Amino acid sequence: MLKTTISEVSQHVGQDVKIGVWLANKRSSGKIQFLQLRDGTGFIQGVLVKNEVSEAAWEAASSLTQESSLYVIGEVRKDERAPSGYELTLKDIEIIQIAENYPITPKEHGVEFLMDHRHLWLRSRKQHAILRIRNEVIRATYNFFHEKGFVKIDPPILTGSSAEGTTDLFHTTYFDRDAYLSQSGQLYMEAAAMAFGKVFSFGPTFRAEKSKTRRHLIEFWMIEPEMAFVEHEENLEIQEQYVSYLVQSVLENCQAELKTLERDTSKLEKVTAPFPRITYDEAIALLKDKGFTDIEWGDDFGAPHETAIAESFDKPVFITHYPTKIKAFYMKPDPKREEVVLCADLIAPEGYGEIIGGSQRIDDYDLMVERYKEHHLTAPAYEWYLELRKYGSVPHSGFGLGLERTVAWICGIDHVRETIPFPRLLNRLYP
Ligand code: 4AD
Ligand code: MG
Repeated sequence: MLKTTISEVSQHVGQDVKIGVWLANKRSSGKIQFLQLRDGTGFIQGVLVKNEVSEAAWEAASSLTQESSLYVIGEVRKDERAPSGYELTLKDIEIIQIAENYPITPKEHGVEFLMDHRHLWLRSRKQHAILRIRNEVIRATYNFFHEKGFVKIDPPILTGSSAEGTTDLFHTTYFDRDAYLSQSGQLYMEAAAMAFGKVFSFGPTFRAEKSKTRRHLIEFWMIEPEMAFVEHEENLEIQEQYVSYLVQSVLENCQAELKTLERDTSKLEKVTAPFPRITYDEAIALLKDKGFTDIEWGDDFGAPHETAIAESFDKPVFITHYPTKIKAFYMKPDPKREEVVLCADLIAPEGYGEIIGGSQRIDDYDLMVERYKEHHLTAPAYEWYLELRKYGSVPHSGFGLGLERTVAWICGIDHVRETIPFPRLLNRLYP
């Protein structure tokens, strides 16, 4: 018997196949049983007609509970009405295990209950679709950067210093010393860019932020490209090409998943490079026009501000040239105007907020030393980072894209917690 998967049935129309599956749901009309089957690659309906199969097969099907595991044997049929386009006419079934009372039933459950059962919730249609799209974004990321000649470099997770300010550092011990979980691999990626030219990383990062919003995770995954001999404007061009590539790849390869999520894909189709750019100054003026009368030059933007700015555009928008004093120590001041830096945040449409933070980096040794003092950062933790400005320093730029926020936006779902297999939140370390 030909063993296959649900994703491959289109190649076996008219043939008998065997597939290992779980029972997602079941309906019966007395003489016919309709089994909703899933195998990880997809979902398909199996139809069992009482007087066309053995009594044993009929009884076995009748005994199946939700999430029972089994092999089904049946003929693949094309069916225009089926969501997947195919159906199985079942001939026999072999039970592997009858599942006990499965806690997640087709009725509505509260989100905390579902999060407590995340290890099982992953099996449901919607969660399956979201994580498949996450997988496509990861695949497209590797494709994009490899095609453009970037080398993947893996920065350490255990570090002796902070990369993005000290307030949300995750402290741990390293034998008899203090250590921190990485907030960003950037500083190491700068070293790598000086060795390989164009590099990118993809890994977990940690922020001990006491934020309980729909955009914040304690552990999230970041893609961090870093490029030697690349300045501010070119940095933005790479970002807009990358983000449009991600969106277009999902549109091309995840139509079924987007349909399951009921995503309005016309909004995603508009996401093509170039993206609009506005300066921080223009953003302040725009916000004042929109009724944020309290906001003043020098204030950072919160979620409501980002949402209001994004509403004026149907593509992601870059906000550039933020005030130096509200941004990280390593950002290069604009030579034409020292109180702002050569940076940009990329704000996603539809209220999803900042998905990228990036900048040109300070390449001057003396200025970097000065910034260290202002930010109360001390050697020897940063000694090596300073040395990059001593031995053939060059203009360089990079950025970090938050994977979960990007996936939440592309999927059109409310909260980042469903975009990562096992979310770490302020109040959640289980499962
Ligand atoms: O803006 P951030 O803090 O930038 C950096 O860490 C830079 N060192 C990146 C670089 O230039 N190499 O973070 C980058 C992105 C944000 O735009 C956001 O998408 C995501 O990381 N992010 C979070 N995602 C989920 N939960 C959190 N707590 C996040 N904090 C940042
Ligand atoms: Mg940021």
